[in-house]
Amino acid sequence: MTRPLHFVGFLKPAGEYPSGWRHPSSADRAGVDFAFVSEQVRRLEAAGLDAVFIPDLVGLPDVSPDVLDRVAVVNDTFEPTTLLAALSAVTERIGLIGTASTSFASAAAIADDFGSLHALSEGRAGWNVVTSLNDAEARNFGHAGHLAHADRYAHAGSVADRVRDAWGEGGPVIAQAGSSPAGRDLAARIADVVFVRALPVEETRDFVDDIRSRATGHGRDPAAVKILPELSAVVARSRSEAREAFAKVRDLLDPRIALADLEYWTRTDLAGLPLDGPLPPLPASASHGGSHGGSRGAQEEIYRQAAREGLTIRDLARQIADGDGAVVGTAGDVADHIERYADVAGVDGFTVSFPWVPDTLNAFTDLVVPELRRRGLFRTHYEGTTIREHLHLDIAQRQRA
Ligand SMILES: Cc1cc2nc3c(=O)[nH]c(=O)nc-3n(C[C@H](O)[C@H](O)[C@H](O)COP(=O)(O)O)c2cc1C
Repeated sequence: MTRPLHFVGFLKPAGEYPSGWRHPSSADRAGVDFAFVSEQVRRLEAAGLDAVFIPDLVGLPDVSPDVLDRVAVVNDTFEPTTLLAALSAVTERIGLIGTASTSFASAAAIADDFGSLHALSEGRAGWNVVTSLNDAEARNFGHAGHLAHADRYAHAGSVADRVRDAWGEGGPVIAQAGSSPAGRDLAARIADVVFVRALPVEETRDFVDDIRSRATGHGRDPAAVKILPELSAVVARSRSEAREAFAKVRDLLDPRIALADLEYWTRTDLAGLPLDGPLPPLPASASHGGSHGGSRGAQEEIYRQAAREGLTIRDLARQIADGDGAVVGTAGDVADHIERYADVAGVDGFTVSFPWVPDTLNAFTDLVVPELRRRGLFRTHYEGTTIREHLHLDIAQRQRA
């Protein structure tokens, strides 16, 4: 493992936890409040994170209006490249990664937007390649439904190749978070940075091994792919204080939202099923109710988790809502977790998400970063000025695969 590790802040201004937006410390209309968002990003920069990463959906999630009324969706935020361009003017060092979908944006538009951001920010841009999950996103662009999963990824590969051709070598960094075999293969072929949701340490190790061996298969140096699983943390000066803080936000969670979230990720209609019973059998394909949307990788992972731990629908809904295994404890607990994943799973760092903002973001920068620095796991200062320098990505190693 190379130290220090890499850290990317995954910023949803209204918070990652489904009821985070209801927390008393949360800002009203957080996602469209530039002063608020830029303050958070400047904090991440002052702490020395490699990059901030802005997610995006290009339509509302496929959930009922009743559920939409009770969540802060990703769309309640600025469009990523516009936001990152504004952020480039009020920051100096931190990398600026934004999401754009290959299913609906053209290669020319993506190359132009992120190429401009890269120039504006003097080498700090990154593109998170997504194929989009929801049929509602497809309808937003005038399509009846989404492309089939395999077609989405085949198209993504050709769009990414054209974007890379437009940039030549050394353009914006490319990030990807595929978890299905097709998604992993695309990530291993084209990505400099790979995101993956939080998984148990052994599954993370299998994921890391798989990505690195696929990268080797594509003729790449496997160390040139930086693998950063998601990490969600609720940190306080004592464990009991952290548990209390988490209990408060959990109490604000409407059970209808937890269940809807589980239905969304499993693409499974759970209406009418006993909450204390198991999930119904896994559908034969990712398509559900005639839809091609959804993440097959996430769906299969959740089914595996349910089987492994013998979870009921009620337990599983709670666990999914609980931030995919958020670490709740002291800075030392979070640092132990980070060190274990680096040692056992060989990850290059983490994509840190914040259950509610600004409290959990402040706790990460003020409590966790100093502890990580004490252990040699976090940079003391930016050595370079570009995102490639921060991530130790050698341009010469980015062979075309
Ligand atoms: C940390 C992280 C961030 C993600 N951000 C987005 C996003 O902003 N927009 C999006 O459409 N999908 C996003 N995804 C979903 C992935 O792009 C991908 O669809 C998902 O990991 C499932 O992989 P699969 O499509 O190979 O099944 C994200 C996934 C992870 C793990």
